[in-house]
Amino acid sequence: MKQESDSYGFVLKFIHWTTALLIMGLLFVGLYMADLPLSETKLKIYMLHKSFGLLVLALVVVRVFTKFLSPKVRSLDTHQAWEKFLAKLTHIFLYFALFAMPLSGWIMSSAGEFPVSFFGIPVPPLTAKNKELFDLCREFHEVLATILIAIVALHLAGALKHHVIDRDRTMMRMMNSKNYNFAGGLAVGLLFALLLGANILFVAAKELSEDEEDEHRAPAVVQASVESPGLLEQAVPAENQWSIVKEDSRLGFEATEYGQSFNGTFDFGGRIVFDPGQLDHSLADISIDIASIKTGSDDRDAQAKSDEWFDVKSFPAAHFVTEKFESSGANQYTVSGKLTIRDVTLPVSFPFTLMIEDKDDDEREANMTAELTLNRLDFGVGSGQWKNTETIGNPVKLSIVVHAKQMKD
Ligand code: HEM
Ligand code: HEM
Repeated sequence: MKQESDSYGFVLKFIHWTTALLIMGLLFVGLYMADLPLSETKLKIYMLHKSFGLLVLALVVVRVFTKFLSPKVRSLDTHQAWEKFLAKLTHIFLYFALFAMPLSGWIMSSAGEFPVSFFGIPVPPLTAKNKELFDLCREFHEVLATILIAIVALHLAGALKHHVIDRDRTMMRMMNSKNYNFAGGLAVGLLFALLLGANILFVAAKELSEDEEDEHRAPAVVQASVESPGLLEQAVPAENQWSIVKEDSRLGFEATEYGQSFNGTFDFGGRIVFDPGQLDHSLADISIDIASIKTGSDDRDAQAKSDEWFDVKSFPAAHFVTEKFESSGANQYTVSGKLTIRDVTLPVSFPFTLMIEDKDDDEREANMTAELTLNRLDFGVGSGQWKNTETIGNPVKLSIVVHAKQMKD
């Protein structure tokens, strides 16, 4: 049988109070940061929240091991049966939350491809990108945080009841004091009551403002449609036209936040006229629908569309219009053209691979792949505070896959 003791060891006491303080801070900061408008400061606060949250996870692991190796702390004579039962349930939930809060945060960040680090040391993701999992963990993290506030309030009320009404050693044996000290125990209890009260007020204020927002919500913004620039209408021979198969074509990008990469895609369309034997008469005019950006996080997509980034209201599409194709080997070409993102047009040139296959008597298929890196700041993507590339890196890797079909004559 496991030995019994009347008090907690120093390590357990130390971890208990350190964790209690960390939880109070994490709840407060979590509630505060989630509603901040996007800024560098917001991203810095997120990184701190994640670091301190992971510290809680590390502490609870040490705590479970220490608890397992320490003598069992027996109930006091003043503890009634219903109190013991309630305390046991409460402690089980608190342990669950000590694991589930940080783990759900970590999985949420991993599934949304958001960076996680432990005070600057990069921490690997727990899962691959997954939008449903991201939304689920986000909801879970928020709901569990609210339940945690209620359960900690019950836990604190229990501790204060034993200290103030029963005047037993329940509080003292979690503190570093041998004797019953009314003022000391009460001061600690009241300090936490104050911190918890602030969290409860915060949750209430958040709920109220969310209700008001719902009432005053403006009608959904209608997405601006992408106009086709139609530059190719006249000048090209129609017989070499290709139609893009949108389901099999992809414009992907990879950017970095705090040095950790995240991926996204854009929809695109346009006209391609291409004949490997007549490169001089080949042309492509591609429109990229900026509002179609998908990175796996609705918030990040909305931020990308905002004025400081792509400003989708003023510039709904980016355009790439080719000027010259050159052959550089079997199935290898280089294309040069003008790329317009926002109101900046720059010359861009990149190599690509193209395979053309005869499918049957009257159809041909083409598969084009290319990779290139652009600097977002060259196109004014990310203005003001976002010119600093420590948070969101400057180079953005693009990967292009175009699947197109052509009817034979
Ligand atoms: C015990 C530890 C933790 C506590 C008590 C805690 C608490 C909270 C709270 C109260 C919120 C606000 C929820 C809302 O109203 O939307 C929040 C948000 C968040 N937490 Fe934690 N958290 C903890 C650990 C972590 C960890 C370890 C991570 C990531 C590694 C993390 C990532 C996040 C993120 C990304 C958000 C923002 C979600 C959003 O933007 O809606 N948290 N957290
Ligand atoms: C709000 C201020 C808090 C006070 C005044 C407080 C007080 C106490 C006291 C007096 C005990 C000893 C109970 C006994 O011996 O029967 C205890 C145990 C415990 N407390 Fe707290 N606590 C607080 C916050 C928290 C928080 C935030 C957590 C975790 C989220 C937590 C988790 C636990 C657990 C799991 C135990 C059981 C003993 C153990 O396994 O370490 N407490 N607490």
